[in-house]
Amino acid sequence: MPPDLPPSAGPPAQPSDPAVHSLRGRCAIVTGASRGIGRAIALAYTRAGAQVVINHAPDQAVPQDLLDLIAAEGGQAVAVQADVGRSADQERLLAAALTHFGRIDILVNNAAIKGKASFLEVTEATWDEVMRTNLQGPYFLAQRVAREMLRAGTRGRIINLSSLHESKPLRGSSVYSISKSGLAMLTMTLALELARQGITVNSILPGSYLTQMNLLALNDPARKADADNWVPVGRMGLPEDLVATAVFLAGPNSDYITGSCIRVDGGLSLV
Ligand SMILES: NC(=O)c1ccc[n+]([C@@H]2O[C@H](COP(=O)([O-])OP(=O)(O)OC[C@H]3O[C@@H](n4cnc5c(N)ncnc54)[C@H](O)[C@@H]3O)[C@@H](O)[C@H]2O)c1
Repeated sequence: MPPDLPPSAGPPAQPSDPAVHSLRGRCAIVTGASRGIGRAIALAYTRAGAQVVINHAPDQAVPQDLLDLIAAEGGQAVAVQADVGRSADQERLLAAALTHFGRIDILVNNAAIKGKASFLEVTEATWDEVMRTNLQGPYFLAQRVAREMLRAGTRGRIINLSSLHESKPLRGSSVYSISKSGLAMLTMTLALELARQGITVNSILPGSYLTQMNLLALNDPARKADADNWVPVGRMGLPEDLVATAVFLAGPNSDYITGSCIRVDGGLSLV
């Protein structure tokens, strides 16, 4: 080890209890949380006791039904419209966490776009938009959040939603796959750089999930049946399949896990 590393942050003040995955007293930002996987994670976090900044994209309405549900269950959340790829919007997300809840403990970089196009048709505009949303946004939002965590002495959690296509190419989605490859390196590098300060950085790799990102399967039962068949467990994933992992990685019992990617894919990576 080089001699100029800071001393270890040491074990958590509270020894972990394997039976408890509580996020009480913690504040999370979940990006792209108005629908799909992000929405399920945001709801699960409030149910685990966290206060949540629910980010919705500029083209998405305020997820009022989600806010109402969380409030009815006694949870705490605030919705913030922001484009994760823009610095000023990233600043507003962090400011919302600090203004409303006074702290930031957890960042979930979930927002992403597919930018589907065959390699020969990809334009520079598509490249820029996908990279800005899927890679540059997570990078600089993580930087902002990590700086605040370090300032406050928080044992923080950064969780990136990557994809099996970070390492397995997908026809017609070259830019998306390349952005997720970058996200994989982002996870590992940040984990390394922030390990001594007690901030963990991990990624979750969904397989094939029934969300807007898989519109064809959502709209066409035959396509869905086909997609179900591809998955070793015999069905596409639902956002709820992933939330226990997201809660665990955000919680107090994952202190010794960093730089890991956890596949929640029904075995899809095996075929
Ligand atoms: N669905 C799958 O099969 C699958 C597979 C592998 C990985 N993933 C990953 O899981 C994550 C969630 O995807 P999903 O399946 O819920 O898809 P989704 O399209 O339903 O959700 C993506 C969310 O990101 C938001 N978003 C897009 N651009 C944004 C921006 N610039 N600023 C803020 N928000 C923005 C969208 O509005 C949407 O709410 C993504 O990172 C995706 O790459 C999904």
